[in-house]
Amino acid sequence: MGVRADPRGGATVTDSNLTLPAPGELHLWVAELDMETETTTALDLLQSDERARAERLLSTAARHRFIMTRGLLRKLLERYLEQPAADIQLTSKQGKPGLAQDPAPLSFNVAHSHRRAAIVFAEGGNVGVDVEYLDRHVDHERLARRVFSENEYRSYEESETATRQRMFFDAWSRKEAVLKACGHGLRLPPRQTEVSLAPGEPVFMVRSAGQRWHVRGINVNDDYACAVAADNEFTAVTQRLIATRHLDDMLQHSCS
Ligand SMILES: CC(C)(COP(=O)(O)OP(=O)(O)OC[C@H]1O[C@@H](n2cnc3c(N)ncnc32)[C@H](O)[C@@H]1OP(=O)(O)O)[C@@H](O)C(=O)NCCC(=O)NCCS
Repeated sequence: MGVRADPRGGATVTDSNLTLPAPGELHLWVAELDMETETTTALDLLQSDERARAERLLSTAARHRFIMTRGLLRKLLERYLEQPAADIQLTSKQGKPGLAQDPAPLSFNVAHSHRRAAIVFAEGGNVGVDVEYLDRHVDHERLARRVFSENEYRSYEESETATRQRMFFDAWSRKEAVLKACGHGLRLPPRQTEVSLAPGEPVFMVRSAGQRWHVRGINVNDDYACAVAADNEFTAVTQRLIATRHLDDMLQHSCS
């Protein structure tokens, strides 16, 4: 894959096309979003229904996140599939976007929170990703009582008070990655999906909606919790960071 490391951090994509993830591998792209960045390039990649959806979003930040993330998704799909970004047909199943092509050559899922977008790709099966900004204003004590199973809540309560916020978001991102992988999202009661709260836990198994899922917490930075989940077992997550200064270049780069 033509990704050149940037000494200042981040990665620059030098080749047009990307190699599809190998069996047992997930590709995770995490982009830094800067609310000051122009959205014109990303907007040009969107289809009319996506533009209309962006217009309906009342919050400027939510609109910005949606446009940039959807533009990036389309650009990455262009490179994986070698098709122009704007021509790629997407479907939506209970809100979960997927490729209209049947059989789909690639599975993916998308998340965004505050100033991060995360997109995970797999060669097949069901995948999910979640990224969560560790928002200090969130009352995690109250939410933990609502969304954690008994076992999860016990681990949370037994932990040091200072670590609980991190623990809550780590657990929540793992849970949501599973709920998004199966495609039901929060239609399924979050308590019924039990995850490990241990920090740095490697891939572990979860049972949700009568199915087994493989989950891994991903280290993005101190301000975010992130996790990926898949029904097919994976042994590697290849993670790439797209720094703000590279995002526009990436969106402009055309597939030839
Ligand atoms: C899917 C869901 C968990 C996303 O939660 P979130 O924290 O707001 O948002 P995230 O950033 O993690 O994910 C958003 C992305 O998930 C994807 N998504 C949407 N619905 C999805 C689903 N059912 N399964 C998997 N992925 C989904 C979309 O790509 C969306 O991004 P986009 O709108 O820019 O395309 C949540 O919106 C949900 O459960 N929705 C379905 C049920 C519902 O609408 N309930 C009302 C509230 S209870």
